[in-house]
Amino acid sequence: MTSYLPYGHQWIDDDDVAAVAAVMRGDWLTQGPAVEVFEKSVADYVGVAHAVAFCNGTAALHGAYYAAGVGEDDEVIVPPLTFAATANAACYLGALPVFADIAPETFCLDPVEVARKVTAKTKVVAPVSYAGYPADVEGCRRAAPGAVVVEDGCHALGGDRRGCKIGAEADMTVFSFHPVKHVTTGEGGMVVTDDELFARRLRLFRSHGITKEPGEMEAKDEGPWYCEMVDLGYNYRMTELQAALGRSQMKKLDAFVARRRELACLYDEAMAELEGVTLPPRHEGHAYHLYPIQVDGSRRRALFEGLRAASIGVQVHYVPVHFHPYYRRRFGWSEGDFPCTEALYRREISLPLFPAMDDGDVDRVVAELFRFLRG
Ligand SMILES: Cc1ncc(COP(=O)(O)O)c(C=O)c1O
Repeated sequence: MTSYLPYGHQWIDDDDVAAVAAVMRGDWLTQGPAVEVFEKSVADYVGVAHAVAFCNGTAALHGAYYAAGVGEDDEVIVPPLTFAATANAACYLGALPVFADIAPETFCLDPVEVARKVTAKTKVVAPVSYAGYPADVEGCRRAAPGAVVVEDGCHALGGDRRGCKIGAEADMTVFSFHPVKHVTTGEGGMVVTDDELFARRLRLFRSHGITKEPGEMEAKDEGPWYCEMVDLGYNYRMTELQAALGRSQMKKLDAFVARRRELACLYDEAMAELEGVTLPPRHEGHAYHLYPIQVDGSRRRALFEGLRAASIGVQVHYVPVHFHPYYRRRFGWSEGDFPCTEALYRREISLPLFPAMDDGDVDRVVAELFRFLRG
């Protein structure tokens, strides 16, 4: 039987296992030194001053919006073409997620649409670097000059734009370390920023809103045990086990991204002549979390089911967020509101793409596509 080829999969080697085992034999399973070491490795890689680890990317988004000062009745502009978490994190804070459509040539938030949606209540603009394509962070900043730009970089760790790593340009950038992402910690997330104040608010938020920092407390001289809860926070901490795995994975990040780019190139070349398939947009800094192709909408479902029947684990990214019943019911969005996102959704299929794939896996996927599309 042909083996199942998922759309994404982690790479774990003996070094990763040894790094986690070493932590398990040590004194600290949580709140020890490994988290800081992992944070520093990501901050240094990206080229920013601060990195704050969270237990997952969704918690990291929640923290970033909190750090930006998002509260009740504020507005957060997000694209509808994303995982629901980008919008949900605004709802957690009592804010209104405001959708703005994508640009059809990048699949990322369109600054022109952002400009149309900005109001005096806009606190955050959150461009998503969809599939790993670097979103137009500067365009979004210009379109919403008073807002904090939080890049959802969950697809884009290791990518670059204008010579800088993804994470160096927005006010804050959020990464996810879910197993299908560029590096994994099982579950995990991180916010990177150059801003000291954002970093302090992120640390406060991920640990119950409790602080021992003299500058953050109201009373100062109660004794060495003393701490204060100065705001409502959560337990969003990352464990030492996760951090040890993350640190070990970071050493391989460049190799992972290079292999993803190689595989994307192989797909590009193999399908260049295939009629009926639109290839993903190219960018020299693309991090290729996904390889999203487009086919005729009337054939998409049959192709999807045909590939799955051939043990090829394709996926669709994403059901637009405004299609979900929660968003339709609560905010009144409906089909037709975001034509570019909806057009992509109707035609999109993500092909398998992860560093452990070999060239033969690409051949297998492309052969099935040819078989189906050439009838
Ligand atoms: C674009 C995007 N944002 C946010 C998230 C949430 O990350 P996590 O699954 O680590 O909570 C994901 C994860 O799939 C994502 O793809």
